[in-house]
Amino acid sequence: MFRFALVFFYAFCCSLPSFLQGQAPKEKCVLVVGGAGFIGSHVNKMLNQAGYQTLVLDNLSRGNREAVQYGTFIEGDLADVKLLDQVFTDYAIDAVMHFAALTEVGESVQNPLKYYINNVVNTLNLLEAMLRHQVNVFIFSSSAAIFGNPQDAYVTEEHPCNPINPYGQTKLMVEHILHDLSKASTLRFCCLRYFNAAGGDSEGQLKNYKAKESNFIPIVLRSLLKPDGSVTIFGTDYPTRDGTGVRDYIHVEDLGSAHILAMEKLFAGAPSNCYNLGNGQGFSVREVIAAAEEVTGKQVNVIEGARRAGDPPFLVANSKKAYAELNWKPRYTSLHDMIKHAWQALQ
Ligand SMILES: NC(=O)c1ccc[n+]([C@@H]2O[C@H](COP(=O)([O-])OP(=O)(O)OC[C@H]3O[C@@H](n4cnc5c(N)ncnc54)[C@H](O)[C@@H]3O)[C@@H](O)[C@H]2O)c1
Repeated sequence: MFRFALVFFYAFCCSLPSFLQGQAPKEKCVLVVGGAGFIGSHVNKMLNQAGYQTLVLDNLSRGNREAVQYGTFIEGDLADVKLLDQVFTDYAIDAVMHFAALTEVGESVQNPLKYYINNVVNTLNLLEAMLRHQVNVFIFSSSAAIFGNPQDAYVTEEHPCNPINPYGQTKLMVEHILHDLSKASTLRFCCLRYFNAAGGDSEGQLKNYKAKESNFIPIVLRSLLKPDGSVTIFGTDYPTRDGTGVRDYIHVEDLGSAHILAMEKLFAGAPSNCYNLGNGQGFSVREVIAAAEEVTGKQVNVIEGARRAGDPPFLVANSKKAYAELNWKPRYTSLHDMIKHAWQALQ
């Protein structure tokens, strides 16, 4: 009888989850900085769905608390070095995804210091805290803005970097800093250079809370929500298929899958790297407007204006490196899907 009880007890113990056997399972924990913003909130959701624990740090200067529906939220600013130390002390963080930045090109031209301080100096605070706490995996939200005016229609990672505004400069500066730092420390990074982030939560859960839009698809959709809303086309005489500028739009969930793949590649020991993330096909301004009208059933009030200085006719990513090395394949490549999900997120 005693032997039977012993065997039963042993079998019971073995069937317990590993953490009840005194050996905590090691779920990886990701610090998502800027995770209350548009892209960060979607990636935060996808990380949780993929089984990661997340901490979201955001000062809510541009983001929204409602957008953080997963993980643990910490309201705070990257300028607060003490808070950063506390966060890295309190939690066993395996990787950092850094989305926090000011993102408006026009504002960066008018107030460059604000951009250099927030996007560069505050990123240094984050990197210093990571080094102090031996956290070595870093995913950085870079931008197509580092390339400036494109020399080639399809922009590869080898394209020269000549940013034409302070916003783009801040992103390139951080890339340079990361290269130097990775040579001098154990930090490994991946810079993901997004083209135009678009779309929304395909499950309709997360909304778009952006107070000020600079991306074209939501500008068009928001114009439909105002009784007197209109959209200006800047330039109708470009040498493109319909005379309007052509851009690359990449669905926010496709950006999310690239982040997870890039992080897992670093976890597996890959060296630091940079990737351009785009859809690979360009859509013209008129094509976006036509698709928005089809998806919403509403008519866009269009104003045709002159070209804007510095706007290239055609700017599309070549993302072959990300396809090949990250094994990444964008899922929502149609304009209709991107507009449908973006429209859902504004309701
Ligand atoms: N949206 C795009 O098309 C696009 C394209 C290329 C690159 N990016 C980059 O992707 C990242 C995310 O962009 P987004 O469109 O989601 O912007 P967003 O403004 O929606 O999100 C940025 C978040 O960072 C937070 N933040 C800013 N400064 C902070 C600080 N000092 N401390 C803590 N939190 C801070 C804001 O409150 C906001 O929630 C940015 O780095 C941006 O430069 C975006």
